[in-house]
Amino acid sequence: MRIISGLSSRQRLLAGAVVVGGLVLIVAAAALLVTSGRSDAASEQPLAFNHEIHAQKGIQCQFCHYGVTKSPSAVIPSVELCMGCHQNIRTDSEIIQELAGYWERQEPIPWKRVYEQPSYVYFNHRSHIASGVTCGACHGDVASMTVAHQVVEHNMGFCLDCHAEQENKEALYDCAVCHR
Ligand code: HEC
Ligand code: HEC
Ligand code: HEC
Ligand code: HEC
Ligand code: HEC
Repeated sequence: MRIISGLSSRQRLLAGAVVVGGLVLIVAAAALLVTSGRSDAASEQPLAFNHEIHAQKGIQCQFCHYGVTKSPSAVIPSVELCMGCHQNIRTDSEIIQELAGYWERQEPIPWKRVYEQPSYVYFNHRSHIASGVTCGACHGDVASMTVAHQVVEHNMGFCLDCHAEQENKEALYDCAVCHR
């Protein structure tokens, strides 16, 4: 890891701790991936939700992902939010009838996650949206996707490349910003 040279010895110690902790977590994460199959999320969502249709009707990202301006998590909308519209819209559709089934059973839809950071990384939507970073910079053109799928790899280099362009670049490069 080239960034490690140029750190003080205390920082190196800390970095070492992160490296070891990180490696243990990576092995655990790899094991989880093998058993959960999260990497293939897009092809196996429980319901054929379609981003493009909703974008074409002018529904804003933040209407459903209302967490982005308030919290670390963007929030995946509940069945209740869907039914606010679909109690009346396209009730003839088979997919909407499937959706209504979840609502009648009061069951959450078990969406598979598309983007998910390992637990040793801290990320917050609110601060990025407040700084004017667009959804597209990190998620690609979701408005033209049917089922959301991963088009941007969220590795550490991806985060650091953009942080390097910011005015307070030193502060945003600090390991502890993202590894708390
Ligand atoms: C009508 C509600 C709705 C709107 C509007 C909407 N989304 Fe979504 N979004 C969802 C649902 C439901 C999922 C979970 C299913 C999936 O992954 O496709 C999701 C998933 C996602 C994911 C993947 C999340 C993950 O990591 O699992 C991203 C990224 C995303 N949306 C971004 C956007 C963006 C950007 C927009 C605006 C262009 C948008 N969404 C508009 C409902 C919506
Ligand atoms: C703000 C209103 C609104 C919300 C909230 C909303 N939808 Fe929709 N949805 C629409 C509209 C409008 C259409 C397009 C209807 C048409 O084709 O005339 C649509 C279309 C759809 C379709 C396509 C139906 C088909 O058979 O092609 C699906 C599936 C769907 N929505 C699922 C969902 C799910 C799941 C949620 C919650 C995550 C959701 N919608 C939330 C308004 C909404
Ligand atoms: C700076 C990069 C960045 C921007 C900008 C961004 N996201 Fe994300 N998004 C992420 C990361 C990283 C994750 C995974 C977070 C995690 O697992 O903790 C994520 C996860 C999500 C999820 C899954 C639920 C969650 O919060 O974990 C949704 C939905 C989502 N983003 C929607 C959006 C929408 C809508 C916008 C624009 C309003 C947006 N994102 C802007 C990086 C970004
Ligand atoms: C496209 C540009 C961009 C990308 C990509 C990006 N960031 Fe940022 N990040 C910013 C900006 C702008 C700020 C806000 C700077 C400020 O407020 O001083 C920021 C601030 C932060 C902060 C400090 C504020 C807070 O919320 O505590 C953290 C942590 C952070 N980013 C984590 C990440 C992670 C993790 C990733 C990769 C998954 C990432 N960022 C990707 C632009 C970006
Ligand atoms: C802007 C956010 C950010 C900063 C700052 C940051 N990291 Fe990371 N780091 C990440 C993300 C995101 C991942 C997860 C990468 C993945 O899942 O592919 C990660 C993963 C790691 C890993 C796991 C191994 C790997 O390369 O995937 C180590 C070790 C690590 N970081 C060490 C550090 C050290 C040491 C520093 C300070 C010099 C640092 N990080 C600064 C975001 C950051």
